[in-house]
Amino acid sequence: MPDPTITDSSVDAARDDALAAIAASTTLTELRAARTAHAGEASALAQFNASLKTVAPDQRAAAGKLVGQARARVAEALSSREAELAVAEETARLASEAVDVTAVATRWRSGARHPLSLLMEQMADIFIGMGWEVAEGPELENEWFNFDALNMDEDHPARGTQDTFFIDPIESHLLLRTQTSPVQVRSLLDRPLPVYVVSPGKVFRKDELDATHTPVFHQLEGIAIDKGLTMAHLRGTLEHLARAMFGDGAEIRLRPNYFPFTEPSAEMDVWQPNAKGGARWVEWGGCGMVNPNVLRAAGIDPEVYQGFAFGMGIERTLQFRNEMNDMRDMVEGDVRFSQQFGMVV
Ligand code: FA5
Ligand code: MG
Repeated sequence: MPDPTITDSSVDAARDDALAAIAASTTLTELRAARTAHAGEASALAQFNASLKTVAPDQRAAAGKLVGQARARVAEALSSREAELAVAEETARLASEAVDVTAVATRWRSGARHPLSLLMEQMADIFIGMGWEVAEGPELENEWFNFDALNMDEDHPARGTQDTFFIDPIESHLLLRTQTSPVQVRSLLDRPLPVYVVSPGKVFRKDELDATHTPVFHQLEGIAIDKGLTMAHLRGTLEHLARAMFGDGAEIRLRPNYFPFTEPSAEMDVWQPNAKGGARWVEWGGCGMVNPNVLRAAGIDPEVYQGFAFGMGIERTLQFRNEMNDMRDMVEGDVRFSQQFGMVV
């Protein structure tokens, strides 16, 4: 119990105790406890105040002043410490609730489709828009569909083991298809006439990997068989595809060429105005009027039905569309390649 007698030293001691407790409070809760202990009804200063009425009248004014000043000092310290602690607590609360908008979010890597797959689908869509159908053929193909039915006789150079991956044993007559053209014959055997079919897919050749070749690549095959189809229909179709792929200014050129399954045949070039090393024509695919021997192999009378076929490289299409100099970037599987095409991982 503090000394109830009002003296300079007892009042100073009570005041200093109060000020020390206030200064030592580091939270509003501690400060509330200090207020109760040092300024509340049971506190020494409150008791001094209450006992003023018992002080001799001639000393009461001086004692009142002493106690009053001490209590004022404590009240002032309480309110300024309270303001300080309120600010500190608010700042701490805001800091703990703060959201770092620059923080990297945890995300699931969902993956996406390869630009080549997307392009194949886009190309097929152009034909769907013209009423064509999409067909698929096997990658492990019978030699007859890949070569014989396409009028490529026994000694055609592409039949040699140099370009073709044959499957063991050789008597199985199975191979990895070297072109999508076997789907021409499969479609003709499968469907009633007329036939308008495109077939995108993977093909295999013993080619070295370089800037414009890969041993595993993709082609888009097309075949149209109807009454009265001419080379003009072929050209119009290819021009439409070229413009859809490369823009309205795209041009194509047909150069006479030889394919056993078309007659006449042509190599199809596209104009590359922005090619590295200057504008130039570059080979995109092959095409021609379907050879009567192919129609006969599918049981169709070439006197009644005629048509055209074409096949172009998908990697080349992606390359020309995006001004890419090196095809190797497409096959190496580096995700940064796909990301350049807007793929998000
Ligand atoms: C053919 O494969 C014929 N089947 C095309 C055809 C279809 C002609 C229908 C007539 C009628 P070619 O071997 O030229 O033709 O290949 C066609 C296209 O495939 C080439 O122009 C090129 O764009 C692409 N290509 C060929 N070899 C590779 C390779 N190793 N890597 C990437 N693309 C290739
Ligand atoms: Mg060629």
